Amino acid sequence: MPKPASQKVATARPFSYRNRTLHCDGVSLASIAEQHSTPAYVYSERQISERFQLFDQAFATRPHTICYAVKANSSLVILRLLGEQGAGFDIVSGGELERVRKAHKPALQRIVFSGVGKQVWEIDAALKANILLFNVESEAELYLLAARAETLGIRARFALRVNPDVFADTHPYISTGLREHKFGIDITLARAIYKRATKFKSLDPAGVSVHIGSQIRSVRPFAAATQRVLDLIADLRKDGHDIRYLDAGGGLGIDYHDSINDPKFNPQQQVQNYAAALNKVLKGIDAHLLLEPGRFIVAQAGALLTRVLVVKQNGAKTFVITDAGMNDLIRPALYQAHHEIIPVKQTAGKQVTTSVVDVVGPVCESGDFFARDRALPNVKPGDLVVLLDTGAYGMSLTSNYNTRPRPPELLITGDKAQLIRRRETLKDLFGPELLPTF
Ligand code: LLP
Repeated sequence: MPKPASQKVATARPFSYRNRTLHCDGVSLASIAEQHSTPAYVYSERQISERFQLFDQAFATRPHTICYAVKANSSLVILRLLGEQGAGFDIVSGGELERVRKAHKPALQRIVFSGVGKQVWEIDAALKANILLFNVESEAELYLLAARAETLGIRARFALRVNPDVFADTHPYISTGLREHKFGIDITLARAIYKRATKFKSLDPAGVSVHIGSQIRSVRPFAAATQRVLDLIADLRKDGHDIRYLDAGGGLGIDYHDSINDPKFNPQQQVQNYAAALNKVLKGIDAHLLLEPGRFIVAQAGALLTRVLVVKQNGAKTFVITDAGMNDLIRPALYQAHHEIIPVKQTAGKQVTTSVVDVVGPVCESGDFFARDRALPNVKPGDLVVLLDTGAYGMSLTSNYNTRPRPPELLITGDKAQLIRRRETLKDLFGPELLPTF
């Protein structure tokens, strides 16, 4: 049962110094490094649950389902944690469908399936799993869905994912709501497509969905996009369609520049502002609201723990080379994303001396950097440092580039650390490869 909107959810940051050592909740990151080596991802279970509750409570006054975007962090344990609290899931592949099935089977019926290129096997698996809603991204996909549903004798609930042509100020790679993007269907064409869909008995036009992009810090574009969807729903209902779901997508951003003890840090307020902006537009609308937050739920619960291998001087520059690389965290290389980097051990007593350095990984690419020209407390080989706010789109975007095994993941619950994914071995990496003899 959702808790009343007024209830206060504790929202303290999980990362803090105790006895000059960085902890995630009750666990020292030095002890994690000792037991599990580095690099390693560490997540606070408490914060993931709290963030989900913030969303759930902020929308408690209307029927809603918070469909966590699996791509942000698809760890089975995290999916199970959220599924057990009543979360639905936003998936974009047959693989993510199987993750939800494995993690928490009852949540299959709370799945929305987005994605611009769904394949027949993926559509079939989702139909058989009786997911809540297909977010259809093209007319061709709609007709494929109709055909597969008819073949399987199942009625497919669908929403067109409309492209509202709303600008959201974010990195161009993660903005999706403009006509020039590959996502969704031009909102001005949607009404006619819903009309054409009535030809197919296997299709149930159950909703309308929208997602304008990711890491959006202002709530205004969300309200603008939702308003356009509401206007469309009014037209669709006039046309006789039984539209029950409004999927407002995900995309609420976080402040990656926040330090761990920033007094302004107030995620509850951020979610409440977002909810107020949406609720203002939604007013008395009679529809079940779906939301697809990913980053806001998991990003700040996670950190990437890494060890300094080398500190080297090249010309005027100082490079701090860590044992984590762009294959472990690609966000800085891909989006010039900023992540705060802090040492695990705080220097005692005297004034902290800092240097301006580049923090880079060992991968053979100049793009393999975590920070450029950043003032950091001085570090030496062997020291541990942490990249903050890496719980979202960190592990889920890892690769084996340079034949580097992926790092392990640990879930921290109070003062306990649980290994939820072991470090890959070289044997794992060679597993799928074939070496034919000619
Ligand atoms: N729904 C749909 C249809 C999406 O495409 C996405 C994210 C979400 C929900 C969740 O958005 P969120 O609440 O997490 O912003 N790799 C990039 C982010 C890519 C986002 C892709 N779609 C990054 O590291 O910033």
